[in-house]
Amino acid sequence: MTSTTDPLRRWRDLQRELVGAAASQAEDCFRAQAHDDLSPIGWHLEHCVFVECVWIRSALLDDHGIRDRLAHRCLPELAPKSRRGSRLPPRSELLQWSSETMRHNDTLLREVRDPNAADPLRKGDRILHFLVSHHAQHLETMRTIALRFGDSEGGKAPARAAGKAGATDASVQRVAAGSACVGSADAVRAHDNELPRSRVRVQEFRISERPVTNRAWEEFVAAGGYQDPRWWTPDGWRWRRHAGVEAPDAWRYAAAAAPDDFVSGVSRHEAGAYARFRRGRLPHEHEWETARMAGLLRDTGRVWEWCANRFHPYPGFRPFPYREYSLPWFDGRHYVLKGGSRLSEPEVRRATFRNYYTPTTRHILSGVRVAYDCSV
Ligand code: AVJ
Ligand code: FE
Repeated sequence: MTSTTDPLRRWRDLQRELVGAAASQAEDCFRAQAHDDLSPIGWHLEHCVFVECVWIRSALLDDHGIRDRLAHRCLPELAPKSRRGSRLPPRSELLQWSSETMRHNDTLLREVRDPNAADPLRKGDRILHFLVSHHAQHLETMRTIALRFGDSEGGKAPARAAGKAGATDASVQRVAAGSACVGSADAVRAHDNELPRSRVRVQEFRISERPVTNRAWEEFVAAGGYQDPRWWTPDGWRWRRHAGVEAPDAWRYAAAAAPDDFVSGVSRHEAGAYARFRRGRLPHEHEWETARMAGLLRDTGRVWEWCANRFHPYPGFRPFPYREYSLPWFDGRHYVLKGGSRLSEPEVRRATFRNYYTPTTRHILSGVRVAYDCSV
């Protein structure tokens, strides 16, 4: 599937999808913030074009024009989210500039591309694979924004018919203690934070075959779970009271709240409280990945699944293609999510991909799969 697809073709597909996602919004939604933590859809497009120019024109061809002209509004660290909308060019202008610049980037990359080159950007087409995965992640965010603006599918048809999880389906798989490999063996397609592949020790544990459904979450709500501090960490309880949270964020969108669908729009605080209500806990990402590689998890890639652990570097971590891609998020404040959502592209749904957000984040399609300790 993804491993055999020509990355050049995937890159072009994603370029087209990014322009299409921005084009499907009217001028006001194009530059509006759907949420304080979300940039305008138009910003994501301009940022993706900019990132291509940074690597293809600036890094590979020494042409710094576009990078220097646009850094102040396209580099996340230089452009506060609240100011991104007003700095955007008019929609039609940005759409046209993006299409033309991306087409030109395609020509330039084809000329300079050399998978056999020795430099780390071109070797094995690594920077091209990076651009594919980078764009895929921004495309997912654009779809998440479209969802909030009332597009029930986030501008994307569901990847497959919804595999319904029955109301009583609480199947659990047991995983024996042992050593396992986590991380990617594919050094050109993987992000820096998935490398190097490392061996970890996993204790015996149990894990649900499926993520939690809205129906199961409703039992938590009906049992007063949001009002019962027993299930919450002190931090989580403080957050919940302050934010006034009493139900998943996605329950405000009818399309996301069908009883058999997997719950989404929950923070890590809520996910952990739910798991404790069920006498369980969140899985460590190593446990999740081990169970996934053993073929024990069903319905991955439907909602992002909160993990127990913080986002951290694997031993021997080396930044690529720039220090800030992963390093700033190893800050002890970000926690891992695994699996991908129904708005994710295949490159993001891979078993070793690691997403990361702070524990109060609930504007994404984030859900939970419960794990359990094994009684000794
Ligand atoms: C890993 C999805 C949280 O979109 O902010 C995109 C990925 N890094 N451009 C994000 C990312 C640089 C990141 N997430
Ligand atoms: Fe980016």
